[in-house]
Amino acid sequence: MQDIVDQLEAKREAARQGGGTRRVEAQHGRGKLTARERVELLLDAGSFEETDMFVEHRCTEFGMADQRVPGDGVVTGQGTVNGRLVFVFSQDFTVFGGSLSESHAAKIAKVMDRAVQVRAPVIGLNDSGGARIQEGVDSLAGYAEVFVRNVKASGVIPQISVICGPCAGGAVYSPAMTDFIFMVRDSSYMFVTGPEVVRTVTNEVVTQEELGGASAHTKKSGVADLAFENDVEAMAELRRFIDFLPSSNLEKPPVWPTEDTVERDDFSLDTLIPANPTQPYDMAELIRKVVDEGDFFELQPDYARNILTGFARIGGSSVGIVANQPLVLAGCLDIDSSRKAARFVRFCDCFNIPIVTFVDVPGFLPGTAQEFGGIIKHGAKLLYAFTEATVPKVTVITRKAYGGAYDVMSSKHLGGDVNYAWPTAEIAVMGPKGAVEIIFRSDAGDPAKIEAKTEEYRERFANPFVAARRGFIDDVIMPHGTRRRVGQALRWLQGKRTQEPWRKHGNIPL
Ligand code: HXC
Repeated sequence: MQDIVDQLEAKREAARQGGGTRRVEAQHGRGKLTARERVELLLDAGSFEETDMFVEHRCTEFGMADQRVPGDGVVTGQGTVNGRLVFVFSQDFTVFGGSLSESHAAKIAKVMDRAVQVRAPVIGLNDSGGARIQEGVDSLAGYAEVFVRNVKASGVIPQISVICGPCAGGAVYSPAMTDFIFMVRDSSYMFVTGPEVVRTVTNEVVTQEELGGASAHTKKSGVADLAFENDVEAMAELRRFIDFLPSSNLEKPPVWPTEDTVERDDFSLDTLIPANPTQPYDMAELIRKVVDEGDFFELQPDYARNILTGFARIGGSSVGIVANQPLVLAGCLDIDSSRKAARFVRFCDCFNIPIVTFVDVPGFLPGTAQEFGGIIKHGAKLLYAFTEATVPKVTVITRKAYGGAYDVMSSKHLGGDVNYAWPTAEIAVMGPKGAVEIIFRSDAGDPAKIEAKTEEYRERFANPFVAARRGFIDDVIMPHGTRRRVGQALRWLQGKRTQEPWRKHGNIPL
């Protein structure tokens, strides 16, 4: 008996060693933690239960029969984050570069299946050289097993990817199908083909960092949602992030205690909107003043900055925030901001998270770049997503809500449940100047007349009351009471139920 116990401990120890001291030191030398160290930081202390520690690959090609490491390059199991169950897989770069073998993939598939069965989030910590080259098609088949599970789990449980190292080839497509991708600056990369292939095919010379580093994906491509300084910060922020999410589509978002009463007024909001309608202000400031304890977990802060998306809480309960940002492109909607917000809205709708929308939008961004880039289809994504969403939707128009963009931004017409406007709201087909230039074009040579007509238009249309008279706006509210009014609306909307006709699925303009 003692023999077996000793063997068991020896095997466990071998698994814990991963690829050995030299490779662990190399990993640390790159400023990266090991797979197990990451899991330890992510989960509540002592909560991790590891599965499949003794799994080994079955490959015999290229001398692999003699090279077996228990666990086969991925640490899998479950534990808790602030007491809530999550499933985890964490690739171990010290074992064959974290590359994905048939057995490695089967371990990931097992935790994903369990996560779906018990309805808990799955978190993938990716640090891998891609398909295990020695295993050939078996490893490609393994990737496909993971991809299929990503798709089937989509909208059932939250799936979160952290890219902690290289992620190349097929390896990027599993994270791409998860709900959120976080990266680590200077140590993580994502690309379909690496710099060598790029140089051969296109003659472009780029570094790994330029092609697929955190900066490329959080600023240019929008593939990643956030980037962190190092693994430690990434795990700490991931814990904070998970607190906003329900465990599955069957649950409501968790409610966390807060000292911040929903009744709190903020009188500084009464002077937030500048007197000059063309002068910008920071919508993020407004959001922080309205939500619990000023805590706004912003996503994609450096991509499509003309729209803000992220999670916050009101009355302790999570909400998804979507807001035009007048500081960037005057808050216009364009291709990137429409895609960014549409995907966020759909996540919230999948997981029962109410959506609070703050509107200050002068319209869609005009121009050939936008038209040729397909703004019609991309803008329609946001229109579709807001319309499709059946979660409680509360909208506050702070200033401009012009044209099609007014309709799109969770208006009453798209099923907004509660639509408020501040007294400074201007709900119209377009701004006074543009409108008068079109409908009084024949008077263009008469500046006094144009000015008078502009003033008349402003008086008649550039206010919230025309829409309020028609019931498109439920109430015109004072800015200082925004938190209270939104919080009250969310409270009574908790019981919202809708019934849609059966269909296999809609056909969002992808
Ligand atoms: C087997 C691999 C491996 C792989 C790395 N290793 N990638 N072993 N299969 N894919 C091993 C190395 O042999 C080495 O072993 C150890 O991991 C560390 O690798 P290094 O190259 O020394 O590390 P580094 O210099 O940091 O470079 C990391 C890297 C590079 C950029 C990831 O290793 C690399 O380019 N690997 C190949 C990437 C790739 O082309 N993968 C296939 C993608 S195609 P030792 O014993 O020396 O420690 C793909 C198709 C999927 O994934 C399609 C699904 C649809």
